Amino acid sequence: MAVQIPRGTQDILPGTSEKWQYVENRMRDICRAFNYSEIRTPIFEQTELFQRSVGDTTDIVQKEMYTFEDKGGRSMTLRPEGTASVVRSYVENKRFGLPDQPDKLYYIGPMFRYERPQSGRMRQFVQFGVEAIGSDDPSIDAEVIALAMELYSSLGLKGLKLVINSLGDKESRENHKQALIEHFKPSIEEFCSDCQQRLEKNPLRILDCKKDKDHPLMETAPSILDYLNEDSRRYFEKVQAFLSQMGISFEIDPGLVRGLDYYNNTAFEIMIEGEGFGAITTLTGGGRYNGLTEELGGPEAPGIGFALSIERLLMALSAQNVELPVEKGLDCYVVTMGEKAETEAVSILWDLRRKGLRVEKDYMQKKIKAQFKAADRMNAAYTVVIGEDELQSGEVSIKKMSDGSQEKTAIADLAAYLTDKTGRE
Ligand code: HAM
Repeated sequence: MAVQIPRGTQDILPGTSEKWQYVENRMRDICRAFNYSEIRTPIFEQTELFQRSVGDTTDIVQKEMYTFEDKGGRSMTLRPEGTASVVRSYVENKRFGLPDQPDKLYYIGPMFRYERPQSGRMRQFVQFGVEAIGSDDPSIDAEVIALAMELYSSLGLKGLKLVINSLGDKESRENHKQALIEHFKPSIEEFCSDCQQRLEKNPLRILDCKKDKDHPLMETAPSILDYLNEDSRRYFEKVQAFLSQMGISFEIDPGLVRGLDYYNNTAFEIMIEGEGFGAITTLTGGGRYNGLTEELGGPEAPGIGFALSIERLLMALSAQNVELPVEKGLDCYVVTMGEKAETEAVSILWDLRRKGLRVEKDYMQKKIKAQFKAADRMNAAYTVVIGEDELQSGEVSIKKMSDGSQEKTAIADLAAYLTDKTGRE
């Protein structure tokens, strides 16, 4: 039997990979405008990194990590997300010492989670993420959210819903935690074993339990917004004011708690409405993680960021029939007639390609008719026929495939002709 691709992974084939490149370029362009620089961190890290940041009681760490022992007996994990690695790198490379804070970073790369695969939920997926570390100015929270919104709207997505919440600072969270414990404790036997364990350690995690989501106590659980102290409340108001200032509308959902432990104050998700998404409607998740640098052995440096997967982004674009303006065809297909022309074509293509033109020829000893068919299939803007006569006269006729019109030019001027017509550099 042939070997098959692992469950929850995919091959991104030609025809689709161009869409990936297009959205990745968009991401890079937007990051450039917002002045975020790319960071590339390893795909595996010490397991402890994720235990300490994402959190021991989260689903990600408890159930979804690809963890293995390397040959030196160390526990390693394929990264399930990017924030932990970026913050580790920020601390390890002492980027807190750079004069320009916050350190504004972005990444595009594969992440791994052992989840039950379904459409929009993969075991290997590619996240685009942004992290701004070293400032707790509320305008940076709004900036990070705005960057994500701008990516979607510039690609032409509609029906986006930005949902925000505040998880409060340490003090607010502690008060809320006590309230949650009191709320759930009397009936905790009715909850799953994970939730029972979470009660004392991290009761906030009960709120995003998938098994117990319909338990009546979930609905009546104390809301974090009632436990925000003055500082946290004011901070949240400022973030909202900055969003409004940029004309970005949002909803507040006190039930938005996020599935990772490092969050505090601002938390947000971008959802999409409409058909074709099934259960998966969250495109982006992010929030503030003050305290994470200290947790990973560095000095205080408050941060905020988000991540989204390209898989879900492309799913949303295709559900809304958004056509990305990806480049589809060749600039020119060089049709050859006879052995001499085939040989000569090698030099002609070499020249054209080095000038940045996208050109192709036949390698399968096809007849002329079949070569023209191939030119059609490859969406060639122009075709050129090279045979004995053309080689002798040094002149070719160029056929514009869209209307069949023909023009003559010297072989030596072919590159200049095509460059001019196709608008390439
Ligand atoms: P997250 O909510 O776990 O947050 O994931 C962020 C996004 O990654 C999701 O909204 C979704 O688009 C995508 N995603 C997650 N799991 C899968 C999957 N199995 N298949 C496809 N896409 C998936 C984080 O990862 C945080 N690190 C975000 C962050 C950055 N917070 C602050 N900075």
